[in-house]
This record gives sequence, C-alpha cells and structure tokens, in this order.
Amino acid sequence: MVEIYPILQHPDPRLSQPAEVVETVNDAVRTIVKNMFATHYAQNNCAALAATQLGVPLRITVIDFSEKKDEPLCLINPEIIERSDEMLNEFEGCMSVGGRIHERVKRHRNIRVNALNEQGASFELDASDFLSRCIQHELDHLDGMLFIDRLSPLKRKIVDRKFSKRLKKG
Ligand code: NI
Repeated sequence: MVEIYPILQHPDPRLSQPAEVVETVNDAVRTIVKNMFATHYAQNNCAALAATQLGVPLRITVIDFSEKKDEPLCLINPEIIERSDEMLNEFEGCMSVGGRIHERVKRHRNIRVNALNEQGASFELDASDFLSRCIQHELDHLDGMLFIDRLSPLKRKIVDRKFSKRLKKG
C-alpha cells in the first residue's frame, strides 16, 4: 500500500523545523521513500520533494524532473561537500508556497553532494545547473528554510503581503 502524503503549505510551522538525521536506512525508511515518490509523481509540475514538506521530519529528499518521470533520485542525509564560486540566479517556486510565487534565488552552479541511497550505502554526486539548484532548494527544506527565506527584505515583504491577503480571504 502506497500512501500519498499531503504537502504542507507555508506558513505551516513544520516547514521551519530542521529535519532529523536518518540513523538507519531500514524498511520503515524505504516505505517513506516509496510514499514520497508516489506523492511526487501524483503532482503536476513537481521536480522534487523534501520529507519536511510532507510532515516527515527526516533528512530525505526525492528528485525527478525527467519528462517521463523515470529518473528517480533519492538522497538520504544529503550534505553538500563542495560548492563552486560560480553562482546562478534563476527563478524558483515551491510546492509548499502557493500563490504562483516565483522569484530569483542565488545558488551555486556546481556542487558535490554526499548522501545515502535507499540501501543505506554512501555515494557522491556531482550536480550542475538545474539539478544543483534543485538539491540546494531541497536541502534548505531539510534545514527548515524556504526559498522565500532567501529573498531580499523588500521582496519578502511583498510575498508576505500576498500571503496575508490570501489568508484573510480564507
Ligand atoms: Ni520546495
């Protein structure tokens, strides 16, 4: 049985809580990963999800932005171990931030990541451009941070105003 998790929406306080390290990659963790991919593939226009967005406070992210949704990448306890000085500044959105908000966020163009796979084996991954941005966005989630937390104070104020209007409307 696969479970589709609800995606928490900003300003849910759980989105601001850093996730816990996965101590052992066991069957319970693999079930969570399976459910996370099912949740991911049930969305339109979803590139990746972090467990924190799904009410699961563990350091796990699932990524797949291939056209056919057949290139699943799961990172457990991911850590960025190298970053390029070269930066990107592209538009980002987030499944947990409604209101069609897309803003430019500065990210490293190239990163090297260390993580565990679903078998609990450690591996390293070099990521560039979109994948690099995607992983940095997801790692932020695992640290309790949203992309709107990286905006300039002025831009953030505009986003906050949009949200308070939406909340008033219900
Ligand atoms: Ni996101």
